[in-house]
Order: sequence, then structure tokens, then C-alpha cells
Amino acid sequence: MLKVEHLTKDFGHGRGIFDVNFEINKGEVLGFLGPNGAGKSTTIRHLMGFTKPGQGKVEINGFDCTNKPQEVMKYVGYLPGEVALPDDMTGGQFIKMMKAMRHIKDDRYLNHLIELFDLDYQGSMKKMSLGEKRKLAVVVAFMADPEILILDEPTSGLDPVMQEKFIEFMVEEKRRGKTILLSSHIFPEVEATCDRINIIKEGRIVAEVDAADLKNERQKNFQLGFTNPSNLAQAMSVFDNKKIVQPLVLEVTVAKERISDFFKQLADLKVIAINERRFNLEKYFLDFYRSDKVFEEI
Ligand SMILES: Nc1ncnc2c1ncn2[C@@H]1O[C@H](COP(=O)(O)OP(=O)(O)OP(=O)(O)O)[C@@H](O)[C@H]1O
Ligand SMILES: [Mg+2]
Repeated sequence: MLKVEHLTKDFGHGRGIFDVNFEINKGEVLGFLGPNGAGKSTTIRHLMGFTKPGQGKVEINGFDCTNKPQEVMKYVGYLPGEVALPDDMTGGQFIKMMKAMRHIKDDRYLNHLIELFDLDYQGSMKKMSLGEKRKLAVVVAFMADPEILILDEPTSGLDPVMQEKFIEFMVEEKRRGKTILLSSHIFPEVEATCDRINIIKEGRIVAEVDAADLKNERQKNFQLGFTNPSNLAQAMSVFDNKKIVQPLVLEVTVAKERISDFFKQLADLKVIAINERRFNLEKYFLDFYRSDKVFEEI
């Protein structure tokens, strides 16, 4: 449904994006994570046809995003990272203008979104708070009920209640079979929605992970504590997938379907503590976020 191939845009001084490759299948949600300045928005701008690739290409639904942006727009709802709305209109006038531009005749989905996000569109946009503007942008971006959603940090500027609402909205859209590219720094949002996660750093994809693997949905990790090395050695001989993580602590990885067998095996061992090591998305990704840059004199 969405394809990025060898996408390169070199802004000089090591900035830009370099040989970025990924695909999103129909109905899939891909999380696009990375520190500030990593290249998320630049990649997304190519998908919207706003920027021409230096090298490589981007395609949505078989159409080249650079040469056929008008075709691509028919399928895509895009929420930019920074929304710029005309100051001299009311929210209602803006919605009306965008509806006419996109030839939207049916208001049902628009009304659903207005209600969901509790949008007050009466006032002038000049007087709207940041959050109100973002809510308006969300409603306008998705009022045509597009098949593909491209979201660049969609919940930045929204309060916690609205962030929750937005997660609910994405989960519902996913259930309805939408294809979603989500650039985000908000871990709960990524955890609740994404099937896969790509991490970009300094313009390059540095990791591609399956969310189910990450969340230990297929397997679980247990840490077992022992009082002495011989008890530990006995346990070592019982399990296949294991490693010593502290002097008297063994971590065992168990496939979901083998968990009851695992507990039976434990009965014959001298274990004094057991702890499930739950996966923490935030902890995992923070390593990628940390910068190895050192301060240089200006
Ligand atoms: N038009 C441009 N000209 C020159 N450099 C640019 C341009 N656009 C982006 N850059 C640089 O490219 C890099 C990637 O920027 P980009 O906006 O894609 O990052 P990002 O991952 O979206 O970051 P953030 O999380 O802060 O939104 C940055 O170093 C940025 O300074
Ligand atoms: Mg950005």
C-alpha cells in the first residue's frame, strides 16, 4: 500500500535521510520513531509529494508520490507535525472550505469526528488555543474517511484526555482496516496501535521490530533466583532457552504455549524467587534516542 525505496535526500552537513526503505501493507500500522531531527518529517513530506527525492522513490497505492500527488491525496489523510491554519476564518468556515475542495458530500463521518474530539468550531481560528487548532486539523484531515492515515506526531499539543481519545480513534481506525503511518514520541500511543515499529536515527533506519515480539506476546521471560550455584546449575540443565543475568539469577524464555509445562518443571527445582520480566517499550527505545554526540566548541 505504501512503499519507500532507497529514499535519499541529502541536505548537506550529514543532515537529511539516506537510503530509507520500508513498506506498509494494507491494514497495517507502522510506528515511525526516532529522536528529534532524525528524518521522520522529511520522509513523510516525500510521501505527501511536497519534496522531490534526491534518490529513490516513494509510492502509495501504486502511484508515485512525487509525480502523481493528486492521485495519492485521494487515498491519504495527512496530519502535519505543525499545523498552519488561516487566522482570518472561523473553524466552521475552514471546514466548509476544505469540504468543498475535497468534494465531500456526506457529513456523517465529519460529524462523528466533531463529536469524538469534542470540537468547538464556531470561533475564529485566531483565538483558538494550540490544542483546539490541532483538534480542528485532525477533524479536517480525516473527514473524508481516507484509507491511509499519515500522522506526524498527532497528539503533540493535545491534553491527556484528548491523547486518550486520539488513541481510541486510531485503534478504531485500525479495526476498520485503515493503513497507518504513525510518527510519534509517545510510547503508549505506539504500544496501543502499531504492528511494527521502524526506528530512524540520523537519517537511517537503524531497527525494524515486530510489536508482537517486543511485547512478549509470543513468549515470556522469567527470572529465577537461587540460593547457591548448584541449584542454579540444576536449573541450567532443565531449560533450553536461558541465560545467567546476575550471579544467582537465571532468565528463561518460554514460548506462550509451553508456560504450564514450565511451571511443572519449576516444581522440581529449588527456586526461591520468580519474576516475570515484562517488556518496556520505552526502555527499549530510549537506547536508540540517546545521542553519542559530544559538545564541540562553536
Ligand atoms: N529543508 C531543509 N533544509 C535543510 N535541512 C533540513 C530541511 N528539512 C529538514 N532538514 C534537516 O534534516 C534533518 C531531519 O529533519 P526532520 O524534520 O525530518 O526530523 P524529524 O525526525 O521529523 O524530527 P522531529 O522529531 O524534531 O520532528 C534535520 O537535521 C533537519 O535539520
Ligand atoms: Mg518532525
